[in-house]
Parts: sequence; C-alpha cells; structure tokens
Amino acid sequence: MKNVGLIVKNAAQLVTCQSNGMPKKGRAMMDPGIIEDGAVAVSNGKIAGVGKTAEIVGEFRSETVINAKNQVVCPGFVDSHTHIVFGGDRLDEFELRVKGASYLEIMEAGGGIVSTVSRTREASVDQLVSSAARRLDTMLELGTTTVEIKTGYGLDLKTELKMLEAIAELDKTHEIEIIPTFLAAHAIPSEWKGNEDEYTDLICHEMIPAAWDWYQNSHFYTRADGDTTEDQPGPTTGSTPAAKSVNKTSNTQDPARNFFIDVFCEQNAFNLNQAKQVIDTASATGFKVKAHVDEFTNLGCGSYAIQRGATSIDHLDETSDEEIELLAGSNTIGIVTPAVNFNLGSKEFAPARKMIDRGCAIALSTDYNPGSAPCPSLPLTMAIACRYQRLLPGEAFNAVTINAAFAVGAGKSSGSLEAGKQADLLILDTDDYRQTAYEFGRNFVATRIKNGIVTGVGS
Ligand code: NIG
Ligand code: FE
Repeated sequence: MKNVGLIVKNAAQLVTCQSNGMPKKGRAMMDPGIIEDGAVAVSNGKIAGVGKTAEIVGEFRSETVINAKNQVVCPGFVDSHTHIVFGGDRLDEFELRVKGASYLEIMEAGGGIVSTVSRTREASVDQLVSSAARRLDTMLELGTTTVEIKTGYGLDLKTELKMLEAIAELDKTHEIEIIPTFLAAHAIPSEWKGNEDEYTDLICHEMIPAAWDWYQNSHFYTRADGDTTEDQPGPTTGSTPAAKSVNKTSNTQDPARNFFIDVFCEQNAFNLNQAKQVIDTASATGFKVKAHVDEFTNLGCGSYAIQRGATSIDHLDETSDEEIELLAGSNTIGIVTPAVNFNLGSKEFAPARKMIDRGCAIALSTDYNPGSAPCPSLPLTMAIACRYQRLLPGEAFNAVTINAAFAVGAGKSSGSLEAGKQADLLILDTDDYRQTAYEFGRNFVATRIKNGIVTGVGS
C-alpha cells in the first residue's frame, strides 16, 4: 500500500476528461471519460492514481479521505480567454446597448475598449490587482482553477507593462493559476487613430521586445525553468482559500514556456497585414500565438494564424467552412466564446457544432471582460453552449477542461484527472455531471482542491 496525502473516493461519477496527452478532437470530445464509483489518490500536489474506488483504496492509503458519495468529481475548470485586469466599468455602455446601439457602433463612436483604456491608464497596479482579485475569487467559487489573462487596456508601453505587473502579482498571490498573454494589439488607441500602421510598428519594434524582456525577468519564466514541486503538507480544509500556501507547479507543457501574443483582427481594430506583422514579430521573439479572429468580420486571420502554428484561434463566429477544415487538420484549438453572443443579445453563435463534427478540437471560454462579456462563469458558458451551439454536456466538459488546458499550453500538466497531473479537482453537488449544464445559474461546486490542497468547502 502506498501512503498518499489525500484520497477522494466513492464519487458517483469521476469525470476524468482523460485524453492521453492530446487535445480531444471531433467525436472524441463526446466522451467525458466517466468512471462510476470512482476515486482519486493525491500525493505531493499531483494525482497519484485514478480508478474505481475498490482499486484505489486497494492500492493507496491516506489519513485524509473525502467521501464524495452521490457527488461528481471532475477536473478544475480552465478559462482559456479572459480580459479581467481593467479599470472602471462599462455600465453606461450596457444601457446604450439595451437601448439598441451595437458593440461596433459604440466602438466607432470612441466608446468600448478605448473607454476602458482611459480608466486602466489612470489605475495603479494595486487597484488593478485588487479589482481583478475579486473577479478571480468569483471565478474560483464557480470552479475555475486556471485562467489565462490578457493585457490590452493599456495600449501604451507603460500601461501594458503595468498590466503585466498586475497579472504577475495575481499569479503570485491568488490561488488560481494564471497564464499571461500580451495584447497590445487589442485596439487602436485614440492618439494613434489614422496612424494604425505606425501604432503597429510601435507594437512590433518597441512593445513586443519590452514585453519579452519583462517576461524573461518575471517569475513566470524562472518557474518554467525550475518546475520544482516541493513536497506538500497534508491537505488543509477551511472556507478561506489558502492562497499563498498553494504551491503552484509550472503551468507548462512541451516546449516549456507559455507567454502568448494575441491580436484583435477586426474592422476598426487591426487589419490582416497589421495582424500578420504582430504575429510574425512576436513568434520570432519567442511568444506562442493566439488571435481574436472572425468575431464580427472574417478578415482571413484565422487561416494565417493556423498556418503560423497558433496555439488557439478565438471567437470564430464568422469562420468559413474552408477554415474549419484547416483547423480540423491542425494542432490549433478553436476557442469559442458564447457568453459574448449572449451578452450582446445576438441570435447567431460560432458554429461550434459543425466544427466538432468536422473534427476540430474546441474549447469554451468566458472571454470575461467589461464590454462584450462581463461573465465570470464557465458553467453558465457551458449552459449557453449546450443550448445555442448544440454541444452535449460531455463535449462542454471537455471544452472547459482538457481542451482549454491545451489552449493555454498547459495540457500536459492540467485539465484532466490522470496520474502525474496537477491535482486540481472539483467535487460537485450532483450525482450526474450533465446537471451542471442543464440546471443553469446555480453553483454546484461543493469542494475545491488545487494542487492537492483542499482550499474551499462551501455553497
Ligand atoms: O474578446 N474582441 C475584443 N476584445 C474583447 C472585448 C473587450 C472589450 O469590449 O472591452 C472580446 O470580445
Ligand atoms: Fe477577447
């Protein structure tokens, strides 16, 4: 018998989302990898064993055992696309939209993203950290244990670096694990209106090199190098997240480092040539690639990003059939963001059903941001995707766990219940995982375990 720090046993369903080291594509997305009467053994922050309760208790013993009878145990959710570091709010814009103005009209009139830019430029690092930490608290309560966060509300070097500082501080102090993305190409700032090519040059010649320098001096970089997982103390329980005591393991997969570039290729944002310049410069520097493509208009950036080996292409509302074929044949993950469509009152959604049927690997994210998706909840996003994009609950689970982990370069270390991975687990207050997409608006998370430490017992 092997001694371990924690055993979770008797789960009505263990939703493993296991994938054997690959994102789940096409029909494979339908299988959430259920083990009935399942158990997980956890040692030193990692998963030591997964199987039927009888097998696991036959192989492992622990002084700390959680009985998950009549409950579901699943991987912690991964939110693979967010913009949660920002100043101010967009409540006035929400009212304008309720009255009938469109997102693009508001953007053209100088509102939207650039209005958040002014508020973010005014904010201190501390203010950005404390407002984003509250957002992360809510996401964690709803089951999210890993979050990608983008810059993109600075749009000048000083404020973009300030946002990166805030993102690094959040990773150091919050229980949620963070993956950083550099999005200086989010919008054209007002001072560069009419000089879009010059702003793109500034991004390529000054901001990308400075952001890479920042990254190389940050804990994200050194952590990727070290990846030392110290022995964990035994699990603790309590309602207060033990943020600073959480030993974060590296959020890497091969190749080791995860710092992403992103670009918003859209009318009134960056055209295809400008987006290409940003993608090419950044990938030559060492960044991995993501791109906001086809949210409102298809400018051709999806195909380009796939050809350049992008880790993900995101939004995909207007993606063509040819591009869906290209995506299906690639290693790129398609991230769809249906909370945006819901929030903007649209009846049209990205064709995620067709994408899965054609063999793509799809992830679901909230796109949590102050304008197009003020939504912290991956379960609500799953509920929307099931209804409007016709994903089955099992597909939605894979889309917020294993595929989302691959979409942030962390698929080898998290996103599924498999031996050797980080022990990021949720215990859900239901005996059938499908209920979490069916009964929307309720929080099913009863207990969270992050890196093997029981950090929250609640709801
Ligand atoms: O993903 N599309 C561009 N960026 C965000 C919106 C940001 C905002 O409105 O502040 C998005 O939808
Ligand atoms: Fe976005």
